[in-house]
Amino acid sequence: MNNTILVTGGAGFIGSNFVLDWITWETDPVVNLDKLTYAGNLQNLASLKGNPRHTFVRGDIGDSSLIDELLANHKPRAIVNFAAESHVDRSIHGPGEFIQTNMVGTFHLLESTRSYWGSLSENDKKNFRFLHVSTDEVYGSLAPNDPAFKETNTYEPNSPYSASKAASDHLVRAYHHTYGLPVLTTNCSNNYGPYHFPEKLIPLIIHNALADKPLPIYGDGQQIRDWLYVQDHCSAIRRVLQDGKIGETYNIGGWNEKPNLEVVHTLCAMLDDLSPRADGTPYASQITYVTDRPGHDRRYAIDATKINRELGWKPAETFETGIRKTVEWHLTHQDWVRNVTSGDYKKWIETNYAQS
Ligand code: NAD
Ligand code: TYD
Repeated sequence: MNNTILVTGGAGFIGSNFVLDWITWETDPVVNLDKLTYAGNLQNLASLKGNPRHTFVRGDIGDSSLIDELLANHKPRAIVNFAAESHVDRSIHGPGEFIQTNMVGTFHLLESTRSYWGSLSENDKKNFRFLHVSTDEVYGSLAPNDPAFKETNTYEPNSPYSASKAASDHLVRAYHHTYGLPVLTTNCSNNYGPYHFPEKLIPLIIHNALADKPLPIYGDGQQIRDWLYVQDHCSAIRRVLQDGKIGETYNIGGWNEKPNLEVVHTLCAMLDDLSPRADGTPYASQITYVTDRPGHDRRYAIDATKINRELGWKPAETFETGIRKTVEWHLTHQDWVRNVTSGDYKKWIETNYAQS
C-alpha cells in the first residue's frame, strides 16, 4: 500500500476544494477520479496543472474494471468518496441518475474496495480507510423547536436525492458490519464557497443579482438551512480521515441556522456594498417569490458536538466572514462563472423555473 489517497468527485464543488486543500496541507499524492458531469469542472483544478502529486482520471465510480485497475496501480491507503449527483431540484425532475450514481455507483465502488482491501497485508488492512461523504438531508426535516440532528437520529429522507444518499450510507455501514471494511461516514450541512455551481441557492443569487435577473425565493423563504464554509467541511474531513473511529459517523455543521430569505438579504446587502447596481437601487429589489419546491424540507440543523468533543474540530469561519469571502470570490472569478453557465446550465434554468 502507498501513501496515495483516491478521491472521487474531485472536480466538483466540495471535492475540488478538498483536493486543493489536501495538496496545500498534506504531503501524500492524490488520484482524482471524476466523471465530469455538468457539475465537474477541470478549471477548478487549473492551479494543479503539472503538479506531480495530483493525477486526474476521467471515469465513473460504477465502472468496476476502471476502479479495480486504479486500485491495483496506485495502491491507495484511503478512498474519500465525494462522487454523487447532488442537487435536490434535479432529483425531483429526474431521479434516475441519482439512483445510478449515488446508490448503484457507490455499491460498485464498495465492491471494488472490498476486493482490494481483502488483498492487502494484515497491517495495511488495519490502516486502510474508506471515507464516505454524506449529507444532513438523510435525517429529514425538523420542526421549529426540534433539537438539531445528532448521529443517532433516525433516517427519514424526503427527496430522491436524500433517499439515494441515505441508501449509500446504509451500504457503507453494511460493508463495515458484514465484511469489516474500515469505513467512516460524515454527514454535513449546506456548504458554500468558491467553485459552487450556480444552480444552488447562494451562488445562484450572486450570479442572478449581478446579471440583473430575478432572485427566486421558493415558497415563503422561511425554510432554514445550517450553512458551513466549504473549507471548514474539508478540514473536518481531514480530521475524520486522520483520527475518526472506524465504523463511526460524524455530523459536521457550522452552528449557523438561517432562513433562506435572511441569507438572500445578507448577499444583497454585501453586493450593494462591494459592487452596487448601476442605477443605485438595492439588489433586494430583484427578489421574486416563486412556486415552492415539492416536498420542500422546512428545516435542517446539525449538532456537531461529537466531532468537536472527540476530534477537536470546529469551523474557522463565521457565516459573516465566509459569505464575504464567497461574494469576493465570485466578483473576482467572473470568467469561471461565465464558463460554467454555458449551454447545459441555461437548459436547466429553463426547466426548473418554467412554472414560476
Ligand atoms: P457536485 O455536484 O458539485 O460535484 C459532484 C462531482 O461528482 C462532480 O464533479 C461530478 O462530475 C462527479 N460525479 C458525478 N457522478 C459521478 C460518477 N458516477 N462517477 C464519478 N464522478 C461522478 O457536488 P458537491 O456539492 O461537491 O457534493 C460532493 C459530495 O458532498 C456529495 O456526495 C454530496 O452528497 C455531499 N454533500 C454536499 C453538500 C453541499 O452542500 N453541496 C453538503 C453535504 C454533503
Ligand atoms: P439548495 O442550495 O438547492 O440546497 P438544499 O436544497 O440541498 O438545501 O437550496 C437551499 C435552500 O434554498 C432550499 O431551502 C431551497 C431554497 N432555494 C430557493 O429558495 N431558491 C432557489 O432558486 C434555490 C436554488 C433554492
